[in-house]
Amino acid sequence: MKQRILFVCLGNICRSPAAEAMLQQMITREGLAEHIEVDSAGTYGGHAGERSDVRMRRAAGARGIEMTHRARQVREEDFDRFDRIIAMDDNNYEALFRLAPDRAAQQKIFRFREYLRHHPDWSYIPDPYYEGHEGFELVLDLLEDGCAQLLSELKA
Ligand code: 4NP
Repeated sequence: MKQRILFVCLGNICRSPAAEAMLQQMITREGLAEHIEVDSAGTYGGHAGERSDVRMRRAAGARGIEMTHRARQVREEDFDRFDRIIAMDDNNYEALFRLAPDRAAQQKIFRFREYLRHHPDWSYIPDPYYEGHEGFELVLDLLEDGCAQLLSELKA
């Protein structure tokens, strides 16, 4: 059975589309595309239809990850389609919790920090939007850590 993963941040132009592109690359490399589907969305719809932030695209591109996602807002139907909905920070988590139509839907919501193995000091993925280049690099470091762990769980 196919497992469907949705990453969620605020704007869907920095953190969650980077997580999507990174996990997609790992899935493709390991030949798992038939078994795992990945997408991303934002709790805020103000950037809907836009490409990802150019700073995030450049930082990801420098690591060999191409980001082609167009931003969209998360919607209630996502709780039907996806098996795990993974929030980048506590604000996103709480917004998802309010959107979830029932208890079964609430149980699909996770925090990205649950997958971090090598960054004990981080309990969320920090919003890089108002940060410099280091903020985007930090996001990618955290995402690499968590996506590797998530993929190993999905394969198990
Ligand atoms: P993201 O970053 O949630 O990682 O996509 C942000 C993008 C846009 C805004 C905030 C965070 N914004 O306020 O427009």
